[in-house]
Amino acid sequence: MTPRIAQLIHKLILLLIIQSVACLSREEDTISAGVVIKDPQTIASQKQIYKLGFFTPPNTTNRYLGIFFAFSEETVIWVANRDTPLKDSSGAVALSRDGNLVVLDGTNQTVWSTNLTTGTTSSVMNSTAQILDTGNLVLREEATGDVLWESFSEPTDVIVPGMTLSQNVKTGKMVALSAWKNASDPELGSFTAGLEAQSIPQLATWDEGRPHWRSGPWNGLIFLGIKEMFYAYLDGFTQVKNDSAGNFFYTKPQENVYITASVNSTGSVIRKVWNGVAKRWDVGWTAPENECDVYGKCGAFGSCNVMQSPICSCLRGFEPANEEEWGRGNWTNGCRRRKQLQCGGDGFERLRYMKVPDFAQPLPSRVQDECRTRCLGNCSCIAYAYDSYIGCMFWSNTLIDTQEFGSIGVDLYVRLSASEFGSRDGTKLYIIIPVAVSFVCISVMIFVAWWLMVKRKGDKVKDTSIVEAGQTFTTDSTAIVLRNETKEVNIGELPKFTFEMLAKATNQFHEDNLLGRGGFGPVYKGILANGKEIAVKRLSAESGQGMQEFMNEVIVISKLQHRNLVKLLGGCVENEEKILIYEYMPNKSLDACLFGSTNPTKKVLDWNMRYSIIEGIGRGILYLHRDSRLKIIHRDLKPSNVLLDQDWNPKISDFGMARIFGGNEDHGSTARVVGTYGYMAPEYGMEGRFSEKSDVYSFGVLILEIIKGKKNTHYFNDELSLSLIGCAWKMWSEGDGLSFVEEGIASRETEEEMVKCIQIGLLCVQESPNNRPAIQTVLSMLSGEIGELPLPKQPVFAEQNGSTNQNGYSNNELTLTALDGR
Ligand SMILES: *[C@@H]1O[C@H](CO)[C@@H](O)[C@H](O)[C@H]1NC(C)=O
Ligand SMILES: *[C@@H]1O[C@H](CO)[C@@H](O)[C@H](O)[C@H]1NC(C)=O
Ligand SMILES: *[C@@H]1O[C@H](CO)[C@@H](O)[C@H](O)[C@H]1NC(C)=O
Ligand SMILES: *[C@@H]1O[C@H](CO)[C@@H](O)[C@H](O)[C@H]1NC(C)=O
Ligand SMILES: *[C@@H]1O[C@H](CO)[C@@H](O)[C@H](O)[C@H]1NC(C)=O
Ligand SMILES: *[C@@H]1O[C@H](CO)[C@@H](O)[C@H](O)[C@H]1NC(C)=O
Ligand SMILES: *[C@@H]1O[C@H](CO)[C@@H](O)[C@H](O)[C@H]1NC(C)=O
Ligand SMILES: *[C@@H]1O[C@H](CO)[C@@H](O)[C@H](O)[C@H]1NC(C)=O
Ligand SMILES: *[C@@H]1O[C@H](CO)[C@@H](O)[C@H](O)[C@H]1NC(C)=O
Repeated sequence: MTPRIAQLIHKLILLLIIQSVACLSREEDTISAGVVIKDPQTIASQKQIYKLGFFTPPNTTNRYLGIFFAFSEETVIWVANRDTPLKDSSGAVALSRDGNLVVLDGTNQTVWSTNLTTGTTSSVMNSTAQILDTGNLVLREEATGDVLWESFSEPTDVIVPGMTLSQNVKTGKMVALSAWKNASDPELGSFTAGLEAQSIPQLATWDEGRPHWRSGPWNGLIFLGIKEMFYAYLDGFTQVKNDSAGNFFYTKPQENVYITASVNSTGSVIRKVWNGVAKRWDVGWTAPENECDVYGKCGAFGSCNVMQSPICSCLRGFEPANEEEWGRGNWTNGCRRRKQLQCGGDGFERLRYMKVPDFAQPLPSRVQDECRTRCLGNCSCIAYAYDSYIGCMFWSNTLIDTQEFGSIGVDLYVRLSASEFGSRDGTKLYIIIPVAVSFVCISVMIFVAWWLMVKRKGDKVKDTSIVEAGQTFTTDSTAIVLRNETKEVNIGELPKFTFEMLAKATNQFHEDNLLGRGGFGPVYKGILANGKEIAVKRLSAESGQGMQEFMNEVIVISKLQHRNLVKLLGGCVENEEKILIYEYMPNKSLDACLFGSTNPTKKVLDWNMRYSIIEGIGRGILYLHRDSRLKIIHRDLKPSNVLLDQDWNPKISDFGMARIFGGNEDHGSTARVVGTYGYMAPEYGMEGRFSEKSDVYSFGVLILEIIKGKKNTHYFNDELSLSLIGCAWKMWSEGDGLSFVEEGIASRETEEEMVKCIQIGLLCVQESPNNRPAIQTVLSMLSGEIGELPLPKQPVFAEQNGSTNQNGYSNNELTLTALDGR
């Protein structure tokens, strides 16, 4: 027996022991037939995260069955008998004879039931109820394990990661939150919160069914009406499109991160994060945050701005519908158009940094000009806006719930009669002069305040950070709250940067400096006061999320040095800000160069360049797997994590998910599958097993992508409907490898080398990890030291309609984080 096999058996035995232990302790998270949980008994989920039991809200004696956090029992996430309280503590929860989960009072009367019927009353189910570590209470059929009912599908007022909010676009049916009546009464209150998915999805709250607040359109990454989302990394939402059952939102569960979002009895949505150190819930974000966030505050064609007094004004070209009421501060009737539209000769007024109105109709488009032309050409279109992820948004009847954010947001173009733009128009000057005067005054005031602030800060901090020339001052500077108190985290001997320096270097993390978005946050280009260019990765700006990845990256990368790995220059941890600073890569990422079809740099990537990039990435991986003092598995190799320096040398980046192995350990498994669709090896994506060979798989996909110049996740062959890998396999195995190579670089002269590369790529993406070559073998193959290459087996995804996701995820670059309970 080789030591490796012995080790494997050892692990297997260990696993069996762990599993049997788990089986023993299972009793406590499950209610099975005949078991009665009497108040005040509770059951707890396996890892003791959630409990199911009876509780009493404050200022009452009523008892309710609920699910709450084991470490914070007053934080109730679900209530069973919210409308039918128990008057004393003689209640019990059990499975009834027909298999339903029921709450019984002292006289054995059912006060609440899961109310499942099995068609005919005669058939009886055998079921078990289990409280899971996600907070879900699941009723299963004992024999088959089928889920009969789950608490996640009937939420009360709280959503936790793993839960979904949804609306069935066909029937309109929602899975939504409903607030308590008041803090001591869980009965159905007047506020509900949910997802509106009929048009562009948005979150909303309703008061007795009337809109109370809305998040603005979801663009795939952020909600356009939540100002914070533009600059803070307010993660936690993912959209899943599902044609048959509507449009889902769900939050992704993460280990040791506890987040709740709830709607309270006065209609506020509150997001809280568990602070494990201080043992309390920190409020991260609330909505509505101010008067302007309240739906339709200024009526139709009105616009709200919290920085102004009064907060409401009519959009340009509109006047109050009722001058007298408006003057009294009653804005509900809104505004009306001053000059009727002529359809033919209209123009558009650009309103900058807006929360766009409700009822947008989307039209996918790549160019902003198309939105304008289309809107002009349709007389019922009264406004348009453009977002690069959504495309065009059009409005036709009314413009309601419009807000001026002031420094961030979407540009809204409102259609006005051409005469509104005439320069001889007296009324225009009439408006413009006071506006301009007050604007100048405000600007001067802000500038003075800002200058004083800079001066004061400058005195304290040694780096006086002279404002770079050409850095235009906008109100953006106030958008980012500089947090003064620093919560020190030991980040080793890393050079430290202050948040202030970095905010200044990136022009307050301005969108124009955005280089890209990684799995854990946006990356910005920055220029330090001394002129040095840097790349700044800003992790989750609030909550405890990403800390694990952040520390991981710091630990891994600060110990590594190789020309094919990106270099970490320093870090910054200030309160909730976690920022990493890298050397700046002028040629961005492989992703941008290779797949940005309009990118002029693409021409630079001729075959020789691509070949040397492939070799460079390989050498970087070899260093991680073999040559560094540590053995490191990257786990998230993909083009956006390969950066290119000024000489087009590839550098591997993003070590947030990397795993270090000590001694002779060489593989591991995880309950937490992290990685990106299209690059994950099948055994890792499906079973959570990872090893060097899962990196080799990702490298294989990368090789094929570099040759083809197309993304695996974006690739569809029109006639064959094959995935990229399937297509490579088909053409290579038919002896026509050259036609797989991207048009424009394919050449007979280099055919041999190209076909060899395809073959190496195919060897790397074989289904069985054992069949894949180790990275040093791959490098030997590339350099020609191994002349005769083995023949690859048909890749697993070749026949299917794609390793590309057909599973309904809207975002092809979705980074997957899934709890794997198997
Ligand atoms: C409970 O009652 C006390 C005293 O009347 C009051 O101060 C407290 O705010 C109440 N708590 C809640 C949650 O309503
Ligand atoms: C309720 O049912 C349990 C078990 O079936 C029984 O032991 C108990 O006596 C009953 N209580 C009442 C008040 O009927
Ligand atoms: C169960 O059904 C009963 C009778 O139809 C109804 O009164 C009760 O509200 C239902 N309970 C739940 C939790 O749906
Ligand atoms: C439920 O369990 C009982 C006892 O184990 C068994 O006799 C019965 O057939 C089961 N019923 C169903 C529907 O499976
Ligand atoms: C909560 O509502 C109930 C009735 O719905 C009322 O009796 C009670 O006084 C309210 N409690 C508070 C603290 O407002
Ligand atoms: C609901 O939350 C808002 C914002 O935090 C707060 O102002 C309000 O008092 C809360 N309502 C209740 C009833 O606690
Ligand atoms: C505002 O005006 C509307 C009708 O024009 C009226 O119904 C409403 O009560 C008024 N609101 C206030 C606060 O006066
Ligand atoms: C004009 O816009 C309206 C509303 O957006 C839409 O229903 C209609 O189909 C459009 N007409 C044309 C010709 O595009
Ligand atoms: C869509 O939702 C339905 C019902 O919830 C589910 O059965 C189906 O698997 C989902 N489809 C996809 C592609 O997720």
